[in-house]
Amino acid sequence: MKISVIGTGYVGLVTGTCLAETGNEVLCIDIDESKVKLMQQGKVPIYEPHLDVLFERNIKANRLRFSTNLEDGLNHGDIIFLALPTPDGGDGSADLSYVLETSKQIGKLIKSYKVIVDKSTVPVGTAERVKEVITAETNIEHDVVSNPEFLREGFAVDDFLKPERIVIGSSSERATNLMKKLYKPFVRSGNPIIVMDEKSAELTKYAANAFLATKITFMNEIANFCELVGADVDKVRAGVGSDSRIGKRFLFPGIGYGGSCFPKDVKALHKSGKDLGFNFNLLDAVIKVNELQRKILIPRIDNFFNQQLKDKTIAVWGLSFKPETDDIREAPALYMIDELLSKGVKLRVFDPEAMDNVKLKYGNKLYYATNMYDAVNNVDALIISTEWSIFRTPNFSKLKENMNQTVIFDGRNLYDIDDMINEGFYYSSIGRNI
Ligand code: UGA
Repeated sequence: MKISVIGTGYVGLVTGTCLAETGNEVLCIDIDESKVKLMQQGKVPIYEPHLDVLFERNIKANRLRFSTNLEDGLNHGDIIFLALPTPDGGDGSADLSYVLETSKQIGKLIKSYKVIVDKSTVPVGTAERVKEVITAETNIEHDVVSNPEFLREGFAVDDFLKPERIVIGSSSERATNLMKKLYKPFVRSGNPIIVMDEKSAELTKYAANAFLATKITFMNEIANFCELVGADVDKVRAGVGSDSRIGKRFLFPGIGYGGSCFPKDVKALHKSGKDLGFNFNLLDAVIKVNELQRKILIPRIDNFFNQQLKDKTIAVWGLSFKPETDDIREAPALYMIDELLSKGVKLRVFDPEAMDNVKLKYGNKLYYATNMYDAVNNVDALIISTEWSIFRTPNFSKLKENMNQTVIFDGRNLYDIDDMINEGFYYSSIGRNI
């Protein structure tokens, strides 16, 4: 099939590349000329495991192309994916200006029947608005479909190629059939394509992300309570998670959820409720608890150093919001860094992939270590904020040699407490006794 993808951010790029992988002819459109040039040269503009291999293969086969010309994109695809940004509009709501402006252009430029697919996470009613905007510009037949994306950064290729489910919000049989045909190769294992109305599909995406954020947040509060009563959250997690109604996944406590999706989507769902006079009381609490959780290590560190943090040197391992990505949006590490900098702490930071992004944000305010051991040279403490695999089994002797004080604040519970005691570290983690 002929597919166009408008917007080559995270979702657009993965969607375009994976759809090319199953033999479709994909043309990706983006307004960013330098990015398009880079992609035309075969370079992937983001870090995402396995994407580069697929990218190269499909560009070589001429199934994956890039352009800045929207009109070319609209002529090319029978199905037009909108994978445009929907940033926080400033008041928590999703800013739809990119989606609606592009829809207007689509209305002006299409010459034959098209299925327009909302792939971005958009508020309930957006498909309807997109349809209105296009219809105001053209009489040419078209359908607007909601097809939310559930992929995770770091696992995006696998999630796209082997989805647990595909959700299609559509009220047109013609569009539904085209979408089913497109996704058939991805659900050969028998996973479902769930067809519903557009609004329910749009809400499915928000409800899924809000539920997962709530699940994590619940566990974070249980972890905090564990510390108070002397229980061990790892054991509680294992006990609770083996109930299949609850499930083992997304129960890992830590220093809060981050990234470009959960924080934004929970707030956007909350705000769209508020706009209609409906208060999501549960989400109120989730937002508040997560804000506190992101900084939960700070008072501990402050207490450990008797409120004398000024001029202490602290290392931070892990800057991306989670492993296997260079994405630092809403990363808990950054909230801690800001707080510690304001207290006069000198920071030595290291991340396997996110260093460039952090440099852009902080410039010379931080020392950018060349590796994880360089980061801990002469430091008074180490903070672990992202659970990259490389941090899981460090050379503890080397750490002890390099560190000024053998103190670790672990926001991701990477080590066994007994091991740390045996190694002679002061070790503080989340929801477990020291
Ligand atoms: C999330 C969803 O998992 C995807 O299904 C969805 O498609 C995506 O948002 C989106 O809306 O585009 P992502 O943001 O890539 O994916 O990352 P997750 O792996 O879900 O992690 C989100 C945050 O939760 C991270 O900060 C992570 O550290 C935290 N987390 C996750 C925990 O603190 N504990 C857990 O047990 C799991």
